[in-house]
Amino acid sequence: MSRIVVTGGLGFIGSHTVVELLSNNYDVVIIDNLSNSSTDVMNGIKNITGKEPELHLFDLNDQVKVLDFFKNNKDIAGIIHFAAYKAVGESVQLPIKYYENNLFSLVNIMKAVNEFNLNLNFIFSSSCTVYGQAEVQPVDENTPSQPAESPYGNTKQICEEILRDYTVSADNLNIISLRYFNPIGAHPTSEIGELPLGKPNCLVPYLTQSVAGVLGQLTVFGDDYNTPDGTCLRDYIDVIDLSKAHVAALQKLENGKDNPKYDVFNLGTGNGTSVLEVIQTFENATGEKVNYRIGPRRSGDVESVYARTDKAFELLNWTATTPLSESLINAWNWEQKIRGIKKEQNVLQSTM
Ligand code: UD1
Repeated sequence: MSRIVVTGGLGFIGSHTVVELLSNNYDVVIIDNLSNSSTDVMNGIKNITGKEPELHLFDLNDQVKVLDFFKNNKDIAGIIHFAAYKAVGESVQLPIKYYENNLFSLVNIMKAVNEFNLNLNFIFSSSCTVYGQAEVQPVDENTPSQPAESPYGNTKQICEEILRDYTVSADNLNIISLRYFNPIGAHPTSEIGELPLGKPNCLVPYLTQSVAGVLGQLTVFGDDYNTPDGTCLRDYIDVIDLSKAHVAALQKLENGKDNPKYDVFNLGTGNGTSVLEVIQTFENATGEKVNYRIGPRRSGDVESVYARTDKAFELLNWTATTPLSESLINAWNWEQKIRGIKKEQNVLQSTM
């Protein structure tokens, strides 16, 4: 059994990937500092898999602790690095917090890997934000990156560059950056899901909290974009599909003989879905009414971004399969569970 370190393994995408790794018989070691998660997530992971991964609670910004960890765990076969701050708006207000956390944590890991000359496979949690507002949609992995729209986006661009630069002269790492589009959903068991601390910025957690009565009316940010219904287009990708892509990427690095030392993959569905379509699909799938109004544009939003996913299909044998309606039902069931709302769990009725 390969030992795989998952940083940020108690977070949203991290916890779902831990479940997928355990289900594929990997030995998982989680490193988390609980900055945007809780140890309760361990119970969810245990309830789904019947397994308890090793958990180390420390901050990856603490270089001494990072070096110490890797010094004592030289048998690690792979690292999946999720741990990072991800709130776009906050990163504009607090850029140093984002540069410090997202860059130093990666540099500390790379320093340890280098110092102990560890041979391993490395998966980096990147984002479609690296493309900015591309001129043509869908974007593929060769679409040139535009200047980042936020410090958060810039940290993703810089981290990708750090990793690519590392592989120029070193042979001990094989690296894949996975560029997620808009991750949504929750585990179908409702044992784990997205748990944003404070008021969420992202559409789906805002929507489910609004319908649950935790937040007020949802504002749709702008309906005067150059899109079919005037609202922004995004590529909403289910978190279970995403978690499977991480295992596929790891297996490619483990099995492949001709892997480039550094590679990138888009992870999306290939569909551009508007904000109003998300609301409509949620209402149809759950039978709940969404209370929303059209508001002004949100600064920093790009009009449209969705993925070309042929590369992941061809080289990872991966494709997204979960319909948007199913992701939204899972997100809603999770929201109801954590709010203690005693409604009947929604079952899957429709496909889109
Ligand atoms: C952005 C990044 C994404 C990153 C994510 C992290 C881009 C293109 N995408 O996603 O890579 O992983 O942040 O948080 O930079 N909306 C509303 N009302 C709301 C909330 C959102 O109308 O209350 C709309 C937005 O205007 C947007 C869409 O919903 O059109 C999705 O927004 P959101 O869920 O915040 O994600 P992005 O900003 O696309």
